[in-house]
Amino acid sequence: MSTETSSPEGTVALAAELAGRLVPGDVVLVSGELGSGKTTFVRGACRALGVEGPVTSPTFTIGHVLIGRVEIAHLDLYRLGSLAGEDPALLEDYLTPERVGFVEWPEVGDPAFGRVAARVRLEHAGGDRRRVVVA
Ligand SMILES: Nc1ncnc2c1ncn2[C@@H]1O[C@H](COP(=O)(O)OP(=O)(O)O)[C@@H](O)[C@H]1O
Ligand SMILES: [Mg+2]
Repeated sequence: MSTETSSPEGTVALAAELAGRLVPGDVVLVSGELGSGKTTFVRGACRALGVEGPVTSPTFTIGHVLIGRVEIAHLDLYRLGSLAGEDPALLEDYLTPERVGFVEWPEVGDPAFGRVAARVRLEHAGGDRRRVVVA
């Protein structure tokens, strides 16, 4: 599915739609350049899953665990390169079968993610417009 949003709210709404189909154990890979809206998308999905607190990209760790109606693991692997030598089990520690997982910069880790429920790609399309492809 490919669509275009014209505001962060549009991307949030799209993410909420996807979130309604997610069950524990599902992992959603979210790709796209810096500022394309990956975290905005994850925030929208997390809100729809009942998370009320802040949803921000993890910076000093590779992941956060958030509590909504389900447990959610939110990973950002951008810095994984600088975590060379890190045990791959680190990812498994976050992406448990009991949680819904969202992974920003999944290419960086390129691990064997568990059940990938969706691959989301965001692209700048001029101003506040973003092309969002969900596969
Ligand atoms: N249509 C849109 N969808 C998502 N974000 C948008 C959109 N238009 C503008 N933005 C802005 O772009 C920025 C995206 O940042 P963020 O979600 O942190 O991106 P990333 O995680 O990909 O680096 C935010 O400041 C957001 O408000
Ligand atoms: Mg981000």
